[in-house]
Amino acid sequence: MSTKTNKLITLDEYIIQAQNRFPGATGELSQLLRDIGLAAKIISREVNKAGITNLLGVDGSTNVHGESVKKLDLFADQQMISALDRSLITCMVISEENDGIVRLNSQGGKYIVYLDPLDGSSNIDVNVSIGSIFSIYMREARFDPNLVEADALQPGIRQVAAGYVLYGSSTILCYTTGMGVSAFTLDPSLGEFILSEDNFEIPDHGTIYSINEGSYNSWELGLKKYIKYCQEVDEETGRPYSARYIGSMVADIHRTLVKGGIFIYPSSNRYPNGKLRLMYECNPLSFIIEQAGGIAMDGLGRIMEIQPNAIHERTPIYIGSKKNVEKAVEFLANHTEG
Ligand code: AHG
Ligand code: MN
Ligand code: MN
Repeated sequence: MSTKTNKLITLDEYIIQAQNRFPGATGELSQLLRDIGLAAKIISREVNKAGITNLLGVDGSTNVHGESVKKLDLFADQQMISALDRSLITCMVISEENDGIVRLNSQGGKYIVYLDPLDGSSNIDVNVSIGSIFSIYMREARFDPNLVEADALQPGIRQVAAGYVLYGSSTILCYTTGMGVSAFTLDPSLGEFILSEDNFEIPDHGTIYSINEGSYNSWELGLKKYIKYCQEVDEETGRPYSARYIGSMVADIHRTLVKGGIFIYPSSNRYPNGKLRLMYECNPLSFIIEQAGGIAMDGLGRIMEIQPNAIHERTPIYIGSKKNVEKAVEFLANHTEG
């Protein structure tokens, strides 16, 4: 359930109104969020015309994970980073597309930003929804002029804001600063993000499960049993759960936020720690889902409490409606092997 609004409020207006509720606020976080909003509009424009430019296809390089990089990944990375650099508030960016930390011009800047500039990039060529993900931390108080990777290794509970942009049938920007989740839809005729959902809430329970079932044979026993449970006829609804898997985490999480259910990327033979990245995929989307009333676990504990050891580390994830995730974790605990 969510609160609908009839008044037309732009993202920029909304951010300023939210800032005005905190008399001591410096406005820097507001500016940072507006910078991300601007980059999102530029990326959205490019995504929409990807088919008619030469941005499609493999750029020829590989990213730090050995995956082929599409041109749009690099474009999105550059747009986000230059938008953040412009306002001199961010000292450091960590992005999926860059091996190490990226030091920005303002070394005194307060904020550290993690980015998955383009999520679901394998879906670009087939015209399926993709997204951008961001996660914002404050630089720790100790003043050391030399920025190092350790400055960025903070657990997800320390995020000051996080969000995503979904380039789908419409472009939606969703963010949280820890006081609920707000969503904005890009009106292309105005070139503005317009508030569409204030105080987004995820259903407590849903009947959709979302997982790449191709890896079924290498899952742990509890997960196999949980998915079988989802496929059984539910007493309440008289039918089994539906399976939905887009292959762009942002799109799968957005559907989960709206309709409820569970999204899982577990550990498997191919990805012993799961495939998804803790700092710029799992933490920001966990912050959103928790703020909407859902849960995000790694199978044992809360995603946002994991103390990171490396900027690109991976984690398994079980995320979505409270009741679904609790049930999945119960299956994992009750069906351990050996
Ligand atoms: P990215 O395009 O940023 O590398 O992320 C792709 C991720 C994520 O969006 C998605 O949920 C997952 O990869 C899909 O992986 P599988 O193809 O292994 O299911
Ligand atoms: Mn991704
Ligand atoms: Mn990506």
